[in-house]
Amino acid sequence: MRNMGKRSFITSLLGLCLGISAPAQTLGDDQYKPTVGQSGKDVVWVPSPDQLIEKMLRTAQVTDKDLVYDLGAGDGKIAIAAALYHGARAVGIEFNPEMAALAQRNVERAGLKDKVSIIRGDIFVEDFSSATVVTLYLLPQLNLRLKPILQKMKPGTRVVSNSFNMDDWVPDETIEADRGRGYFWIIPARIEGQWTVQLGGQTGQLSLQQKDQMFDGSLSLQGQTYKVVKGRLRGNEFQFEYQRSDGSVAKVSGRIDAGRLQAQQQVLSPAVPLSAQKQ
Ligand SMILES: C[S@@+](CC[C@H](N)C(=O)[O-])C[C@H]1O[C@@H](n2cnc3c(N)ncnc32)[C@H](O)[C@@H]1O
Repeated sequence: MRNMGKRSFITSLLGLCLGISAPAQTLGDDQYKPTVGQSGKDVVWVPSPDQLIEKMLRTAQVTDKDLVYDLGAGDGKIAIAAALYHGARAVGIEFNPEMAALAQRNVERAGLKDKVSIIRGDIFVEDFSSATVVTLYLLPQLNLRLKPILQKMKPGTRVVSNSFNMDDWVPDETIEADRGRGYFWIIPARIEGQWTVQLGGQTGQLSLQQKDQMFDGSLSLQGQTYKVVKGRLRGNEFQFEYQRSDGSVAKVSGRIDAGRLQAQQQVLSPAVPLSAQKQ
C-alpha cells in the first residue's frame, strides 16, 4: 500500500466493494531494483552470465523454429536472448510478480512483444509441455523434481541447465564458459521392450532395457543370442553394437518412430537394413 498511488488505491477499493479483483499492481523501474541473491519462491534470483547463456542456447541449437521456455525467468534475459539472437519464440515463467513485471518491461524495451511472453506463475503448476527447448537455472533438488516432467516431454526436446545437473541422468554434453558450467540433455524416445526384428531376410528378437538415454539388452537371431551394448538415444535417433559369432562388431544406427525401428547395420560395407516392430 505504501507504494501505491492514490488512483490505484481508489481502483483497488472500488474492486473490493464490487467484489472483483483489480489486476496486480507492480512497481516501475524507478522503484523496483532487484538485488542479486534476493529470495524467490523455491530459489533466489541470480542472473545467468551472458556468455554462458549464449553457449547454452548454441549447444541446444536454438533456431527460429523453436519455442524456448525459461523456468524461473528472473529479469527475462534467457528468453530475450533466445528471441533476439536465435529468432526463437520464448516464454519465461517467473513466480515473483515484481520480477515478472520487470521481465515484461525488458521484453518490451527489446521490441520483442510478439516473440516473448512472460507468465507470472509457478514452474510446478504452469504447463510448458509445448516447449522444444527448456532452460533452467534453479537448484539440484528442483531439477530432480522436474526430471519426471521433462522426461515425459516429446522425444528430441532439449533441456539445458546452468550449474546444476540431474543426479545420475548423464548429460549429453557439458558446457564450459568463463563464468560457470552448463549441462545439456536431449529427451530420449522410449526404446525399451521386446521387438520383432527383420535383418537381411531373417526374423529375430530384440529385448532392450533402458535407463534415460542409455540402453542395452540382447538380440536373438537364428538360434544365437548376442549382447547388445553401447545403446544410446539422441531424441528419436539411436545406435547400438553387438558382437557377431565371427568376432566382428556390428554397429546399428537408425530412428524410432511410432513403435517402429528403421536402421542400418554396418559391419563391412554395404550396410544391411534392419527394421523392428514393437511386440
Ligand atoms: C537463479 S534465478 C534464474 C533467472 C534466469 N533464469 C537466469 O538464468 O538469468 C531463479 C529465478 O526463479 C524464480 N523462481 C523461484 N521459484 C520459482 C517457482 N516455483 N516458479 C517460478 N519462478 C520461480 C526466482 O524468483 C528467480 O527469479
